Amino acid sequence: MTSERLKASLDEFAIFGGTPAFAEQLHVGRPNIGDRDRLLGLFNQILDTKRLSNMGPLEREFEQRVAEMLGVKHCIAICNATVALEIAIRALGLTGEVIVPSFTFIATAHALQWQQIVPVFCDIDPETHCLDPRSVERMITPRTTGIVGVHLWGRACEIDALTEIADRHGLKLLFDAAHAFACSYEGRMIGGFGDAEVFSFHATKFFNTFEGGAVTTNDDKLAEKIRLMKNFGFAGYDQVIYIGTNGKMSEVSAAMGLTSLESLDDFVANNHRNYRQYSSELAELPGLRLLTFKEHEKCNYQYIVVEVDQTKAGIGRDELVRLLHAENIIARRYFYPGCHRMEPYRTSYPDAGQALPLTEQLAERVLTLPTGTAVGETEISGIGRIIRKAIARGPEIHERLVAEHVNLPLTAKEY
Ligand SMILES: Cc1ncc(COP(=O)(O)O)c(C=O)c1O
Repeated sequence: MTSERLKASLDEFAIFGGTPAFAEQLHVGRPNIGDRDRLLGLFNQILDTKRLSNMGPLEREFEQRVAEMLGVKHCIAICNATVALEIAIRALGLTGEVIVPSFTFIATAHALQWQQIVPVFCDIDPETHCLDPRSVERMITPRTTGIVGVHLWGRACEIDALTEIADRHGLKLLFDAAHAFACSYEGRMIGGFGDAEVFSFHATKFFNTFEGGAVTTNDDKLAEKIRLMKNFGFAGYDQVIYIGTNGKMSEVSAAMGLTSLESLDDFVANNHRNYRQYSSELAELPGLRLLTFKEHEKCNYQYIVVEVDQTKAGIGRDELVRLLHAENIIARRYFYPGCHRMEPYRTSYPDAGQALPLTEQLAERVLTLPTGTAVGETEISGIGRIIRKAIARGPEIHERLVAEHVNLPLTAKEY
């Protein structure tokens, strides 16, 4: 960052020709890597023993450690969360219609549609960004067989309310916990709620196994079925007793997982520090709301989520994203424009948006900011300063962007 007087005039914003605040791009996240020597030691062990995959010792140890950490009976490691969702959905016997939020990553919906199950998109609570239980209840039809809640940003769904609805209607309840590893709900670790929960350990998550995921459950029978399904349905040599797929986690991924587990507290502490700093940098700005996390719950703080309300900030979310990109702050829209406006759902259910007013509003407002090890105190104070200056002059910036025709919708390459 340059001087405190930075961006004293509009011309000093990089979007209007000024010098970018950062020489290098700051990204939303950078993969966390634990102790390199420990990881390389495990890689050597894999090469020495030549156990590369097929429920090897590291995969089993990883499953056991995760189950212990989450206080859940079973953890089944899978090659990624999308396949984990597909397997869990099939193992639970879901068919017909399943209620899901549209404000989620597309994999949540695709995992259903992939198996000819209709994802019925349901509106969210604008406070929590998660499924609104009252809307869920309204979407239930005789064809509904289940609910897939998403613990978005690592903040738990209204689990008790969803469990009560699922029980009352005889529906299965699955949670997409891709964002919620190491998070809790009312003091209990996420992983043991509903019929099953699914985690993602993709490289973009704060805890990664390169690619990877897991299904966790307290249901012995379901766990057994999922174990069969992730290995083609093999119950023994030459004995296939079930339809299955290949959902196994490789040993190198498990090695990464075991190494990452040892550094998990450090990863979380780093994210938490960043979150606390952002909270003070972005406090009480008109039209800007930083999503908060409950301090009494465990949380991974892996997303810094901001909502921009143009009617109060003067500047729109897309305009702010573009302005930040020009400064080399690669803020990102998330879950825009909502699953229901992506294919094949957009064509199949063109009117789905009518039942999703809050999802559509939120999809126009949300952006995420750089965190993780990509940024430290200096960067966050620089980002905070730019955002404060942009909000302070929001209407002027908006007018100039309009006048200079640079407020066009963001293209796919820009977010
Ligand atoms: C909410 C949600 N569900 C599912 C997935 C899919 O995870 P994976 O990339 O491990 O398949 C993601 C990935 O980002 C996600 O954010």
